[in-house]
Amino acid sequence: MSLHATAIALVEAGKGVLAADESTPTMAKRLARVGLESTEDVRRDYRELLLATPGLAEHVSGVILFDETIRQHHASGVPFAQALREAGIIPGIKVDRGTTPLPRFPDEVVTQGLDGLSERFAEYVALGASFAKWRAVIRIGPDRPTAGCVDANAHALARYAAAAQETGLVPIVEPEVLMDGTHSMERCAEVTRQVLRAVYDQLARQRVDLAGTLLKPNMVLPGSESGQQVGDGDIALATVGVLRDTVPASVPGIVFLSGGQSPQEATARLDALNRCAPQPWQLSFSFGRALQAPVLDAWAGRPENRTAAQAALLGRARMNGLARRGAWSADLEPTLLDAR
Ligand code: 13P
Repeated sequence: MSLHATAIALVEAGKGVLAADESTPTMAKRLARVGLESTEDVRRDYRELLLATPGLAEHVSGVILFDETIRQHHASGVPFAQALREAGIIPGIKVDRGTTPLPRFPDEVVTQGLDGLSERFAEYVALGASFAKWRAVIRIGPDRPTAGCVDANAHALARYAAAAQETGLVPIVEPEVLMDGTHSMERCAEVTRQVLRAVYDQLARQRVDLAGTLLKPNMVLPGSESGQQVGDGDIALATVGVLRDTVPASVPGIVFLSGGQSPQEATARLDALNRCAPQPWQLSFSFGRALQAPVLDAWAGRPENRTAAQAALLGRARMNGLARRGAWSADLEPTLLDAR
């Protein structure tokens, strides 16, 4: 499939991306929350549960895997990536190597992983991946982010995106402005606008073909410690306002991260966003925690909970599928409980 066709397939109507690409330290935190030790076997068992969910392809177009996971197999011996493909789901791979302090910029970070990236891309293609993800992290604080930090991260994202396309992989470009902090929603809008401008400027400089990319941004939200109360409709309007100012219409889709919102909040806001139609791009999801938190709660490492855990994933995916059409409402949520 061409880059353009893959990008379009990832944002097919009613579907979105499952981000299951937690690095090993992050996965250890997620598993510890439900009392589990993070061993390679536990991580494999958990990822198998997610990926083997019957009917997952109905609302999930693609799954982002971690390096360890794309090398793992189902108990039957079939590699995860191959089984996804057979189920009609596109396998993807996280390729950044996390953040590191940005020298001379206190409390700011830059994402690393550009060295040797082309060789790694070639290996991931051989392992079955068709798209990739790189996450940049921007923190809001007094006098932050600095232009130096924004530019360094935007440049790295663009270098990654160009290298991904060169190898035939669709790059998901993820500049995440964190929700942590006391800032207002207006300040989040200002910073997100600044970051996206820098990102699209750098993508153009690095000759990235925008029609073969997807953007994975944060929604525009008040800081998690701000105390500011804002309705979902206002969040959607603020978010769409920033995106319309910054994201070219040739980008086929915008797949939001959940970023620490509760599963239902993330769904409600995706729904509100899709009620602001029409927009030049598909507005979809690439949720990690907002899809997986209820699954981990239901599973808790017990084989007898596997069916309930898969029902929780399917239920969340279905709710987000409705949100993609602006057809979700809170009173549909009990169908999730029924599914359990
Ligand atoms: P969250 O939806 O939990 O923010 O994760 C998405 C993701 O892939 C972050 O890189």
